[in-house]
Parts: sequence; C-alpha cells; structure tokens
Amino acid sequence: MSSAFVSLQNVSLAYGKTVVVPDLRLDIRKGELVALLGPSGCGKTTTMRAIAGLMSLHAGSISIDGVDMSRTPANKRGVGLVFQSYALFPHLNAFENVAFGLRLKKLPRTEIIGRVEHGLSTVGLSHLAQRKPAEMSGGQQQRLSLARSLVMEPKVLLLDEPLSNLDARLRLEMRTELQRVQRDTGITMIFVTHDQSEALALADRIVLMKDGVIEQLGTADDLYNRPETEFAADFFGFENIFEVSGSSIRGPQGSVSISFTAKAGHLAWRPGAVKIGSGPHKATVRGVAFAGEHREYVFDTGLGQIKASAPAGEPAYELGASLSFDLPEDGALSIPAKN
Ligand SMILES: Nc1ncnc2c1ncn2[C@@H]1O[C@H](COP(=O)(O)OP(=O)(O)O)[C@@H](O)[C@H]1O
Ligand SMILES: [Mg+2]
Repeated sequence: MSSAFVSLQNVSLAYGKTVVVPDLRLDIRKGELVALLGPSGCGKTTTMRAIAGLMSLHAGSISIDGVDMSRTPANKRGVGLVFQSYALFPHLNAFENVAFGLRLKKLPRTEIIGRVEHGLSTVGLSHLAQRKPAEMSGGQQQRLSLARSLVMEPKVLLLDEPLSNLDARLRLEMRTELQRVQRDTGITMIFVTHDQSEALALADRIVLMKDGVIEQLGTADDLYNRPETEFAADFFGFENIFEVSGSSIRGPQGSVSISFTAKAGHLAWRPGAVKIGSGPHKATVRGVAFAGEHREYVFDTGLGQIKASAPAGEPAYELGASLSFDLPEDGALSIPAKN
C-alpha cells in the first residue's frame, strides 16, 4: 500500500454509457489540501461525487485511510461535503443546523452541545448561534455549512466550489478562513474550483483536469511557473503560445524568426513578458484596456494577435498605433513536444 490517505486507483466514471472520467489515478496524503481545478464540465463534481459515494464506480477503486470504500455507502465513508448551495435548514437556527447530524447519530446531549459550540467557534459564528440562515449573510451561511460538516469529524472534507456564490471580497475572506480551519483541524480537504487564483492561493497541490483526465499535477509553483502542456500554460496565463519550427515560431497568421534556439514543441509568453517599444517585430495596436496597475494590449502581428501588457505608468500606445516589439528568450516558456 502507498502512504496515500485518499487513493483513487484507475477510477472510471460514467453517466449511462457515457464515460466522463476514463482512468483517474490520484493519491492524496493525510492533512493535505488538494484543489481539483479545471474548466466547467471537465469532471470535477463527478469525481467528488464518486469519492463521497454518491455515484458508483464504472471501474477502479477508491480507498480512504487504507480501507477500500468502493462499495461503502455514502454515510459510512466518513466523508463530509460542502457545496456552493449551502443546503441549510431554513427553519432551524445556526446551532440546530450544526447539531442536526449529531442528533441523528444519537450522541449524548452534552457532547452535542460541546461539539456544536466548538464547531461554531471554529468558523467564528458563536455569536450568531440563535440566528436562522435567512438572517445571515452569504459568507456566514457558507461558514455555517462548513461548521455543520466539521462537527461530524469527517476523515475527508470535500468542498465543491464553496466560494463561487460569494462576492469578491467575501471570497477572499473565506479563502483565508478555510486555510485557517484546515491548519487548525489538520483535516484532509479536496477542494473543487474553476478559478486558478483560488487554487493557487489555497492548495498544497493542484490537480489540473481536462476532459476527465489529469493534465498536470503539482504544487502552485509547478503549475504557475512550469506548466507542462499547452492547456496548462494557457490556463495559467501564458496566453501567447506558438509552435516552434526550426528557428521560427508559427502563429495563425504566419511565422517570425526568433533570436535564440528553442526545443521542438511550443514557446509561450505571458502578456507581461512581451517586450513593447523595441525589437525586431512590428505590431499594430488592435485593442487597449486600462486595468489599474497595467494597460492590456491586443496587437495585430505577423504571427496573428498577441496579448501584451505594460505598467500603467509607461506611455500608452493608442488604438491603431504602430510599434516594435520582441518576444524575448527571458520570460519564454518552453513546452517540449510530446514523444
Ligand atoms: N447527471 C448527469 N447525467 C449525465 N451527464 C452528466 C451528469 N452530470 C454531469 N454530466 C456530464 O459529465 C461531465 C462532467 O460534469 P461535471 O463533473 O459536473 O463537471 P465539472 O464539475 O468539472 O463542471 C460533463 O460533460 C457533464 O455534462
Ligand atoms: Mg462542478
């Protein structure tokens, strides 16, 4: 056996005859916070439902803490769930919402009170114990839903886009809150998001998925700085991706030569890595947008359109202006061709 706490072995998942996750292998360590990241429809929720026991496996197996759970019913897996819709009981106050699952377990009264009070205090809601969900903000409801899962003391907590219903500021607050709860409780968490910045901010490791397949798995640093495929590069902001052919790179409109040697495959640049104002290539400004600290440009070039950005303090180029630019070796990401 591996040292994995949650282990998915060759898991295949299907709706009817349609396989949406063909062959997933994933090991998660105890106490880890892992983010499942990927575009809508790539199979994140399906994977979570399988871990939770809410859907059966088409093939493969899932173990938790060394025990094969493949055929264990959802309520016997020790897995907690927090979804983007909080699914709180509207007629019960915060205390009773958190107590609900504990009462079902028929725990002694004093233990229920103790656990609920601890749960509410963990998420900073002790002072709102008597409030009903409708009398709480979105962020408070989300924290309540987290407390309700935590008091069940699950081995694994699954969170499916738990922050996506919150506004930008609350989302940032809840991120920090989740990190703190995870650190304080040491609970193993699997966190689903389609937002790369959320995954980067929270996760010990990120699982980037595409069409039910793991595209890349690694730390935030790995994914952000060393994406290994075109898809991963584009997802993490290397928006200008060109195929290398000899000493040129090729885009949809044509080729330009590069001044350095590159491996076969692709080269990619973040908008900020494009050197504006000097260089061997010519561009026309097709779009310009002020974005606070930066100006974001779209250039028409011999390669096709490229995206560039420059600090807002630098002189702006107007729409239609001509300029020179370079795609320098410094800041170029090399994505070697697959064998
Ligand atoms: N109940 C269902 N019946 C049939 N197909 C589904 C069902 N739920 C999801 N799918 C399909 O499975 C794929 C993965 O969906 P899902 O896991 O919800 O993606 P994600 O959570 O990454 O957005 C999608 O193509 C989706 O259309
Ligand atoms: Mg989903």
